[in-house]
Amino acid sequence: MTDIEELLLSRIRDVADYPEPGVMFKDITPLLADPAAFTALTDALAEISVRNGATKIVGLEARGFILGAPVAVRAGLGFVPVRKAGKLPGATLSQAYDLEYGSAEIEVHAEDLAASDRVMVVDDVLATGGTAEASLELIRRAGAEVAGVAVLMELGFLGGRGRLAASLAGAPLEALLKV
Ligand code: PRP
Ligand code: MG
Repeated sequence: MTDIEELLLSRIRDVADYPEPGVMFKDITPLLADPAAFTALTDALAEISVRNGATKIVGLEARGFILGAPVAVRAGLGFVPVRKAGKLPGATLSQAYDLEYGSAEIEVHAEDLAASDRVMVVDDVLATGGTAEASLELIRRAGAEVAGVAVLMELGFLGGRGRLAASLAGAPLEALLKV
């Protein structure tokens, strides 16, 4: 394990049985509260974005906003929020996706992504991959290119990587930590 991986992992708190029994929640708030760890995380995600030729960062509400916005500033790129349905005032593209129980919908302002854009999706956790998959659909439907998906943490046992393979279409999925 590298020094950065150790630092990041040491600042993630495991919370048992949250939000429901049997689930181990990965709480990133201790990491956000530690300037050295938050800076290291921001720098690492910005490096992935620049290395893959991104022109825009898409952050996924809500925790993807906390990580994606400083990554965009650090990388010198624009930030585009993908929001839960009903929060954006302009003309949006919407994408529904399945949750373990029920479904959800996310939206983006269509005018924020252009055909000339290469988009890096930033989020904290890749679990089942449903949220990230829906965001990749939005990016393609907006006419932009997918530069990749960059997350702090991949929960490998939930199979998100496999679920994303088709939507990534060869673009990278980079996770700083695999648990
Ligand atoms: C969490 C997490 C990821 C997503 C991963 O978001 O922040 O965005 O779930 O799950 P998936 O890979 O199975 O889609 P959530 O919407 O639960 O909460 P948030 O609004 O705090 O980000
Ligand atoms: Mg989230």
